[in-house]
Amino acid sequence: MKDEPNLVEMRDITKGFPGVLANDRVSFAARAGEIHALLGENGAGKSTLMSILTGLYRPDEGEIIVAGRRIELHSPRDAIRNGIGMVYQHFRLIPPFSVAENVILGLDAPRFLLNMPEIEKKVAALSESYGLRVDPKVKVWQLSVGEQQRVEIVKMLYRGARILILDEPTAVLTPQETRELFLTLRRMAGNGHAVIFITHKLHEVMEVADRITVLRGGRSVGTVEKKDTNPASLARMMVGREIPPAPSRSEGPRGEKILELQAVQAMSDKGLPALRGVSLTIRAGELLGIAGVSGNGQKELAEVVTGLRPVQAGRLYIKGKDLTNRSPKEIIEAGVSHVPEDRLGTGLIPNLGVLENVILKEYRRPPISRGPLLDRRAARERSEDLVRDFQVKVAYLDLPVKLLSGGNLQRLLLAREISAAPSLIVAVYPVRGLDIGATETVHNLLLQQKARGAAILLISEDLEEILHLSDRVAVMYEGEIQGVLPSSEARLEEIGLLMAGMKKEATTA
Ligand SMILES: Nc1ncnc2c1ncn2[C@@H]1O[C@H](COP(=O)(O)OP(=O)(O)OP(=O)(O)O)[C@@H](O)[C@H]1O
Ligand SMILES: [Mg+2]
Repeated sequence: MKDEPNLVEMRDITKGFPGVLANDRVSFAARAGEIHALLGENGAGKSTLMSILTGLYRPDEGEIIVAGRRIELHSPRDAIRNGIGMVYQHFRLIPPFSVAENVILGLDAPRFLLNMPEIEKKVAALSESYGLRVDPKVKVWQLSVGEQQRVEIVKMLYRGARILILDEPTAVLTPQETRELFLTLRRMAGNGHAVIFITHKLHEVMEVADRITVLRGGRSVGTVEKKDTNPASLARMMVGREIPPAPSRSEGPRGEKILELQAVQAMSDKGLPALRGVSLTIRAGELLGIAGVSGNGQKELAEVVTGLRPVQAGRLYIKGKDLTNRSPKEIIEAGVSHVPEDRLGTGLIPNLGVLENVILKEYRRPPISRGPLLDRRAARERSEDLVRDFQVKVAYLDLPVKLLSGGNLQRLLLAREISAAPSLIVAVYPVRGLDIGATETVHNLLLQQKARGAAILLISEDLEEILHLSDRVAVMYEGEIQGVLPSSEARLEEIGLLMAGMKKEATTA
């Protein structure tokens, strides 16, 4: 692999947006047969660089060379023609269409010429040879997030992509799915593809990458071979300073019961039982972590607590008040904040500006509202305060939030939710997609809220994170709480067994 020539090379790429130089003379090259990780903190310019390589953005300066030839990319179509394909952070599939239909979507062939059985066969063959388990006939809305990602990958392979770019692919995957994805990436590299893998996670880089390029503040810090580096050194390259040790959980006094669920049952979107009699309690000043492989009812649990999903049976109490099947608005008014899994779907409105998103939940209350009127000045001051206090990097307050980087989106969401001084915070995968620095910020914010007396329901797949932050850990499996352990006693193996459905004697949360 060492002697392989570069399959793709980007030379001195510069790209500015109003108020920010996202890429500053960045050079980057990937070889056939390698997995090349692109590493960097939130806002370092990774997505921008790769959007240039896929023809989504035009660079202000610099050139792109594919297989020895200088090329101009005017659109994603041009990129595909040159064998470059990207799997984005937000998928672009059409839910009512089948997998095979999605794979051929946007290809030039007129529809009546399409031989669906033939296409389905080809899709199946591709999935098979790369270990991408997915049924070509199934409709996309029925798929899990991990399966949808596989469809996106098949789609690129179907179009003949030799250079495959994945933007934080593991941020939405379970540990199991992540392992499968890595095998797929390895197979692709083995077949002579160049695989470019954007991530923040150092242990993934160490596991799967052959080489690593680090970006910081829009510039390339350098490219290293995996065998010549280690996590500490990569972290230093990324952040430009030593990383302080993670904050530690502190025991505070517990207060009144804030959240209480009694034998709650709820259905999934597919109409199947998703919560099968969940009971749990969280007190003021307590953080309960929910561990488990995603898809075992965690999402539904968060939605039931925030009023977004109906309860079929059982009761939901907040501060002793029965709020079963009350509206999200009533639940917000009872002091519940929500950091949802799907930041750009449920959490924030993509096309609205930062300011509008900040006031989304409180435009009915003073000082933002004065009678029937909206006080623009108060709204602006409030947004400015939040952006400053939570260090959201944004050029101006009317910027549509869909243009913020992943980490900045999450900061903005947390800023809004935490600043409401809630009694209960429901945080669903709150550090997904975040870099080391931003993760540290979010963890500190949650612990501060806990110390202030908030009850916190933390849903995460990262056991280290859960053990680190939680007072107690509840493990979910197939819609049930398998067991609850004080995190000081909880051992990884024990939680792992509960996550796999090996129930120990019943305990109540
Ligand atoms: N279309 C755009 N308009 C304005 N600014 C943008 C746009 N796209 C990106 N930016 C800004 O450019 C900088 C680099 O963003 P980019 O999305 O490339 O970072 P990233 O390394 O992918 O971050 P993350 O890890 O959070 O996804 C950020 O400051 C971001 O806010
Ligand atoms: Mg990005």
